[in-house]
Amino acid sequence: MSDMKGERHVEWLRPLTPGAGPRYMQIADLIARAVQTGELAVGDQIPSQRWLATQLGVDLTTVTRAYTEARNRGLISSFSGRGSFVAGVGEAGDEMRIDLSMNTPPQPASGSMGDALKLAIDEVLARQGIEAMSAYQDTWSGASIVQAGRAWLRPAVGAMAGQQELIVCAGTQAAIFSLLQSRTQRGDAVLAEPLTYPGFLLTAQQLGLRVVALEVDQDGVLPDAIERSHRETGAQVIYLNPTLQNPTASTMPEHRREAIGAMLRKLGMTLIEDDPYRYLLNDAPPPIVTYEGGERAYYLTSLSKCLWPSLRTSFVLLPRQHDAAMLQDALRASSMGCSLLLTAVAEHWMRSGQARHLMLDIQREVRARQTLARNLLPKDVNAHPTGLHLWMTLPAHWNRQLFALALEQQGVLVACSDAFSVDANPVDAVRLSVGGARSQTDLAHALQRIATLLREDRRRGVRAIV
Ligand SMILES: Cc1ncc(COP(=O)(O)O)c(C=O)c1O
Repeated sequence: MSDMKGERHVEWLRPLTPGAGPRYMQIADLIARAVQTGELAVGDQIPSQRWLATQLGVDLTTVTRAYTEARNRGLISSFSGRGSFVAGVGEAGDEMRIDLSMNTPPQPASGSMGDALKLAIDEVLARQGIEAMSAYQDTWSGASIVQAGRAWLRPAVGAMAGQQELIVCAGTQAAIFSLLQSRTQRGDAVLAEPLTYPGFLLTAQQLGLRVVALEVDQDGVLPDAIERSHRETGAQVIYLNPTLQNPTASTMPEHRREAIGAMLRKLGMTLIEDDPYRYLLNDAPPPIVTYEGGERAYYLTSLSKCLWPSLRTSFVLLPRQHDAAMLQDALRASSMGCSLLLTAVAEHWMRSGQARHLMLDIQREVRARQTLARNLLPKDVNAHPTGLHLWMTLPAHWNRQLFALALEQQGVLVACSDAFSVDANPVDAVRLSVGGARSQTDLAHALQRIATLLREDRRRGVRAIV
């Protein structure tokens, strides 16, 4: 061993695990873990990059990337001519938290979204100039992003993508808010799945709407239940998320979509079909809107889940009779539309094929993460091999909130069923999102903690209370 100071402090070094995510991330994780466990203290020198590369049998560039990652996480500081030193434990402590509570896509399997973004911004600025990016976009109807969006939507909705008005929004959440605001009045009932997307519940609450939970079976919402609730409550609007449903991870089969489409046509109800997860799947059935025929159905899709949430770019396909200006006015009133720079990046990625490429890479990473989950968690967890989340009903000895709290104390965050439930007192279940963990190694640690906790019965050993 060299006598350089940092190279004597290597007890924290472990062999890298093949297939457990990018190697530079694994090295950064090793440093983070060593800081958390106290194997490395603030001020300790860490080995030279060249030495570490030789020890681990990796390229020097891999270690350089790992040190950049560790610096970005606030774990180390580097000084030219002197080397790299442990910088702090405060941020490193946060780093050790593994957040499975948010449904975000992971970094693509073979690279970083940051690198792709830098290239895209350079390209967009070189081609269009900063002046073009320095304005507000007043109307999007003729914009070239809309044409790119139509091509993007075609695999999902077929010819409808070219026949009906398409609007670009700064995220689906903004579209849900504006649509509900323009289609309902305070006090109205709106129908939805009993467990549904929290952003929809929040909007309904803000607008003073009454969300009515529909009866479901293993295939999703029952068409007869829609008819019954429509007659009982007078609801004119229904919100559904039929593909990789958030939070249950279920995908409604084709026959049910067809039956719901026919029922909505019969009742003349307005459908808001929220489909942000579709492009993660290669086998999703056609959207309900294709069966409803685009009479009164809005089809919403987003780039947030299949590419990157910070793009804040989503599309709304309007029903035939809808006046596009009404929704555009509502969006303008709330947010002045989208970011020109971000939609230009999205358009560049869609037109150049980079969006598909990144999406396949994200899908590959998600598949590896879902495989980890399948191997480490009980078999009855509901998930799709390329879905961002899993839905786990807890064993009878666990209450959802105590389970989430016990996990949080071990540094793992998950989302409880309460966040998604229309009614109080939902089933004891949690949603686990595989994209939020920084690496597959982190995810594996979190899943192991979850699997261990599931087996623990905290009721045992409780004193009798009289
Ligand atoms: C069902 C559903 N719809 C919409 C969104 C938000 O999409 P966006 O980022 O486009 O606003 C989410 C985010 O979790 C979601 O799960």
